[in-house]
Order: sequence, then structure tokens, then C-alpha cells
Amino acid sequence: MLIHSASQLLTLAGGPQRGEALGNLGIIEDGAVLIREGRIVEVGRSAALRARYADEPLLDAEGCVVMPGFVDPHTHLIWAGDRAAEFEMKMAGRHYLEILAAGGGILSTVRATRTASLESLINQTRPRLMRMFAHGTTTAEAKTGYGLQLSTELRLLQALLKLDAEGPLELAFTFLAAHAIPPEYEKNPQAYTDLICETMLPVLRQWWETQAPGRELPFVDVFCERGAFSLEQTRQILSRARELGFPIKVHADEFENLGGTSLAVELGAVSADHLVKTSEADILRLGGSDTVAVSLPCTPFGLAECEYTPAQKLLRAGAILALATDCNPGTAWCESMQFAIALACRSLKLTPAQAIAAATINAAHAIRRADRIGSIEPGKQADLLILSVADYRHLGYRFGTNLVRKVIKRGRVYSVDVGYYEAV
Ligand code: NIG
Ligand code: FE
Repeated sequence: MLIHSASQLLTLAGGPQRGEALGNLGIIEDGAVLIREGRIVEVGRSAALRARYADEPLLDAEGCVVMPGFVDPHTHLIWAGDRAAEFEMKMAGRHYLEILAAGGGILSTVRATRTASLESLINQTRPRLMRMFAHGTTTAEAKTGYGLQLSTELRLLQALLKLDAEGPLELAFTFLAAHAIPPEYEKNPQAYTDLICETMLPVLRQWWETQAPGRELPFVDVFCERGAFSLEQTRQILSRARELGFPIKVHADEFENLGGTSLAVELGAVSADHLVKTSEADILRLGGSDTVAVSLPCTPFGLAECEYTPAQKLLRAGAILALATDCNPGTAWCESMQFAIALACRSLKLTPAQAIAAATINAAHAIRRADRIGSIEPGKQADLLILSVADYRHLGYRFGTNLVRKVIKRGRVYSVDVGYYEAV
């Protein structure tokens, strides 16, 4: 298949974009992409490719932008129930961590999730995946973390493996048993930390080999925060995970700075995520490392807070900046990377080009898949979007509506354009 007549073909070619080099879209005007067997074969100008591949089936981009599918590298998308009542409480002035300390927040989703069957979890999560896909996300990371006990955490992973197999949205997996202290361990959080290290992680290692043989190991992540896991507990869990061969991630500096970012760098984490209360020293360390800085602007927005990731400082320090939605029932029920981009332009002061690179090639790097996805280059998976606009800057500029017309996943074309209503 030859996709042709793209006003702007955003290739994002050349690998992850560090520091102030962020925002190189690699634009080909009047661009075309040749796709065969789900892969990108050639990229160039429409006239040249149409002449060279005259017999190829055509897909006309009709003068719109063609770009890589969004990669959402941080979501908590598998859960049961909702927290609409808590949203109302938060808007009336109660703090997120205060609600968690009173046994609500993450723990109320844990109660709903523990009692949900595998089938119910899959059925509640599938529509979220479909909405993400319709908004242009072709690959998303998905964390467990609403079980906080081995059986439920593994059920969440099983549900995620099934949803990934169903497609078309592709998933990357993260084990986040260290998301909160479960009520059974309220009085002894250290015992829960030990349980994760001594039992859960070794069992997970074996379970994965039988349930997902040959696939890369899931990430192991920790919510390093007051009321969740201390810096020392985070170190203990991530060191054990690393020993067992798991790649690691950290939730750091969302509400308070406990030192999670520097720990992430020290332990060679794939990414450090949230990064709101990050100190100058942490910023410099992160900037000089290969750990990706994942910013989640939907989270402060969702909580109506006014502090966001110090993205400009991170870029000046040379960090590899990525964007994600953090889709979850408590702080940011957002399924759209387009919205994260619009927010990042305003709150992180990114240009549309920088936000797009952070949401594609750098986001792919944040889940260690930049060799396969995140750009339009020969040999990569054919995960592409055809937008309904001719200028890429409409991403960021516009928000609240879907600018994606078609999603192409592994070479298969899905129409998602809502179109226009017709009176009957
Ligand atoms: O990334 N910080 C911890 N986890 C989520 C919130 C999860 C929830 O409230 O259910 C976050 O913001
Ligand atoms: Fe999160």
C-alpha cells in the first residue's frame, strides 16, 4: 500500500531527541510512505514513489498530515469502577493524599478491582483502549497496581496480555504492586515491601516465562511518595527487580521530593515519571543520564494543581523528555495524547513540534521500543496516523476534539473519523 499526498509527512527519523534537540520532525512535504506486510518499506515524495510503485494499491492522504502513531508510555489503564465521587470531594478542597490516607483514593479502586473477575476487568478496560486508539495511540504502556496482592496483580497482567492479543492497540507491561500500601499492611508497610521483594517478584519472573514465553520482561515500577513507598523501600524493590533482570521505572516527585529521580538515575531506570517537585540537582543528574524524563501534564491538570514538570530546565540539562497521559481513575482519566500535547504546549511551554516528538519517538524510547515504533522509517512497524488537518501545529493549538481521521496499525487501516451528522 502506498499512502500518498500528505501535506506534511512527519518522519521523526533519527532516533530519540535529547535536550534542546527536541522537536525535529523530519518533515517531507507532499510525502508518501510505502507499506508492505505491516512494515514501512520506503519514505519519500509522492511523485517519486507513485512513479516507482505504479501498481501499488493507493491510500490518498488528501493533503493532510501523516505522522507516527502516538506512544503513551505511562498509563494505569486496567481498573474496575470509578472515582467520580472523589473527584467531587477534591474539587471541594480535599487533597489527593489526604483521601488516600483515609483509605480512599487508590485503595477504593483496589477494593473494586480485587472483587472483579478477569472477564469483568477486560470488559471494563476494553472501551478505554478503543478510545485511546481512536485518538491515535497505537502503543501504550499499562501498569498493574490496583490489586496489591499477588493473585490480583497477576490477574491484571493476564487481562492486559489478553487485551494486547486482541489488539489493535499494542501494550507494554509494567508490574506496579508497589503502588500503595494495602490495608492488610497498613501497620507494617515494611512487611509489604519485603513481600514484594521476596515473593512477588520471583513468582512474577516464573509466571511470565510460562504466560508470555519469549516476550521481554515487564517493567517494575514503584510509587515513591509520602504515604506510599519511602526512598529506602523504593531502592529495596528496584534493586531486587534489577537483580532478577527486570527493567525498572519510578514514579518520582509527583507531590513531594523524596529523591526518587536521583535514585532512578543511579539504578539505571528506563524512565523517571511525573517530575513535578524535581530539584535542580535531580534535574542535572537526569539530564546527564539515559533515563527518560516522562512528564504527565494531565495529572496536575486533573487535580487542578498549578505546578507542572520543569520541562525547560530538563531540556537545558539535556534530558530525553517524553509525554504520557497517566490515564488512571484518580488523578487523570484522559485517553488522549492529543490533549496531553495541548496541555504540554501551555504548561511545559513546549512548541507543537517538541510535544509531538515527546509523544512519539521519545515516548517509544521510554518503553524501550524506539527500535520498532515512534517514527516513520524503513524497517519500522507501520503504525501511522492520518490527521484531518494540513498543518501539524493544529496539534497543540486545538484541544478537546479529535484531529485523527485514520489510524494505521501494523499496516491495517482503521477509520476513526466521526464525520458529520446528517439529519434524517
Ligand atoms: O500516577 N501516583 C500514583 N498513581 C497514579 C494515580 C493512581 C490513582 O489515583 O488511582 C498517578 O497519578
Ligand atoms: Fe502514574
